[in-house]
Amino acid sequence: MVVKICKDYDEMSRAAANIFAAQIITKPDSVLGFATGSTPEGTYKELVKMYKEGLISFKDITSFNLDEYVGITRENDQSYYYFMHHHLFDHVDINESNVNIPNTGGNLQDECMDYEHRIKAAGGVDLQIVGIGNNGHIGFNEPCDNFVENTNVVELQQRTIEANARFFDSADDVPTRAVTMGIGTIMRARKVVLVASGEGKADIIRDIVKGKITPMAPASVLRFHNDVTVIVDKAAASLL
Ligand code: PGA
Repeated sequence: MVVKICKDYDEMSRAAANIFAAQIITKPDSVLGFATGSTPEGTYKELVKMYKEGLISFKDITSFNLDEYVGITRENDQSYYYFMHHHLFDHVDINESNVNIPNTGGNLQDECMDYEHRIKAAGGVDLQIVGIGNNGHIGFNEPCDNFVENTNVVELQQRTIEANARFFDSADDVPTRAVTMGIGTIMRARKVVLVASGEGKADIIRDIVKGKITPMAPASVLRFHNDVTVIVDKAAASLL
């Protein structure tokens, strides 16, 4: 695990976007794994800028998102489908038929299996970006007793619901379930970038970089991955 400490959020976003640009330039038909949440927004802004400057193209890219809420439609502005189109896909030349976000509108167990098959059929994820929840989750893999291997349906923990309530009218409106890539799915990506910003993430960044590797701090498993870059700003790195 390589830890890169940046002076602020903007520098963190540029550093993450540069890794994506290098991936796209060296393999234009890469399979990219995307994440939602406030942290990667700046990374997507940088990627849109690079696309508009003619530096990168998404035309041969296939994408897989980490997760999606259950119980809201894709048109809902809090869905991750909406988020990805709003922040990235609507502004670049990605082919919509190559965009994959868990479809939570039908049979969830079938979708979990199908999502894994689609990732495998695409050749696996070359580069995956993840944010981190203040409870250590990656995707929606919440702290629990074991690392879950594949895409699965999860019940969101109260801490996650409270953290995400800022995007909804109230905590009561936050969906309580989601479909998420499993820890195994994320670990199978060839390269992983974790981004974190702000002092609210300092405790969990210390725990996953220096603490015990445990499913109670799911992102700690990334220390077993052989190509992970943790990109943090000074505030998130303050307890390292
Ligand atoms: P955030 O969410 O980027 O909005 O802090 C991260 C996450 O919950 O994975």
